[in-house]
Amino acid sequence: MKPARIAMTAILLAASGLMAKAADLSVGIVLPTKDQTRWLQDEARFQALKAAGYSIEILWSQNDPAKEKSNVESLLTKGAKVIILCAVDSAAAAASANEAHASGAKVIAYDRLIMNTPNVDFYVTFDSVQVGEAWGKYLVSKVKGKGNNLFLYAGAASDNNAFLFFQGAWNHLQPKIADGTFVVQNSSQAIALKGKAKLTRKEEGMIIGQVATNWSFSDAKTLAEANLTAVGKAAKGNVYILGPNDDTSRAIGDVFATDKDVSHYFITGQDAEPPSIQYIIDGKQSMTVLKDTRTLVADAVAAALGYLKGNKPAHTTTYDNGKAQIAAKPTAIVTVTKENVKQTIFDSGYYKIGDFKNIN
Ligand code: BGC
Repeated sequence: MKPARIAMTAILLAASGLMAKAADLSVGIVLPTKDQTRWLQDEARFQALKAAGYSIEILWSQNDPAKEKSNVESLLTKGAKVIILCAVDSAAAAASANEAHASGAKVIAYDRLIMNTPNVDFYVTFDSVQVGEAWGKYLVSKVKGKGNNLFLYAGAASDNNAFLFFQGAWNHLQPKIADGTFVVQNSSQAIALKGKAKLTRKEEGMIIGQVATNWSFSDAKTLAEANLTAVGKAAKGNVYILGPNDDTSRAIGDVFATDKDVSHYFITGQDAEPPSIQYIIDGKQSMTVLKDTRTLVADAVAAALGYLKGNKPAHTTTYDNGKAQIAAKPTAIVTVTKENVKQTIFDSGYYKIGDFKNIN
């Protein structure tokens, strides 16, 4: 068929309703990156919506806020009635939320809150402050005496979660930094603020600015290498490391493991990614935080289906995004260590034990 013919046929089909399929998209989902196992797991679990008979489309932003915006726009053009968005940049995503509302779609912020706009209907998340608290508690539980070397690392300053994680960790670490149990070795801002139990967002931002990994394996590796090069032998030995997520924690841990002046390290993480579960079994990562994506996806799907049927999903709390109180449903988290990995990860059915090695 000639192009003009195709266009005419399309117009006729659209007019007759036969092309309704393309305009029938019920739920558009936009996830941040395929390069981290965490988000691939979320993607796989979202297929449940398809099983429920709804048309869904999942697009990837590959950590690019501009791509994320065009992804949302393309889903809206296809008629999406609900947008589930995990923002690459929590503030920049406000524009997408605004566009979605302008076109009559509902907006569910997924895992990461969309900031500075009233146009967010619901937020499904884990309790991110609890994630940071689990890290802080873990490191404090392993420390003895005074003058222990502490290295701090954070996620990306563009991700609101990075602030919540840090806030939770600070709640437990700060008193121990203030009393000299820990000595921070890689953030002059954290040292300057060690007397403050509650940090403002700006103050948190000043620390995060010095220790951000941008959620990137290679940035984390480069930063850890630079930190270890900058400090002397006395700052090494037995060290404590606030590792922000499994990907970056493995990168940082590997750098510390190869430094001959580091005799032992404790390092935190989150996401329970399979390679980190293996690291925990092998004693190369001290802990991770299981954020059960089965629950998160189930909550997002329930909220989306609720909206499609004209219902409002039930919330348990609200989060302030700078412009509005957003109705939310946070899920509890689980600390995973070598001691409890069997119950928390294998007995719970999260992963199959046979996929891992060196289990006693
Ligand atoms: C998520 C983490 C994830 C990180 C990097 C955070 O917002 O909560 O689970 O590891 O982003 O993708």
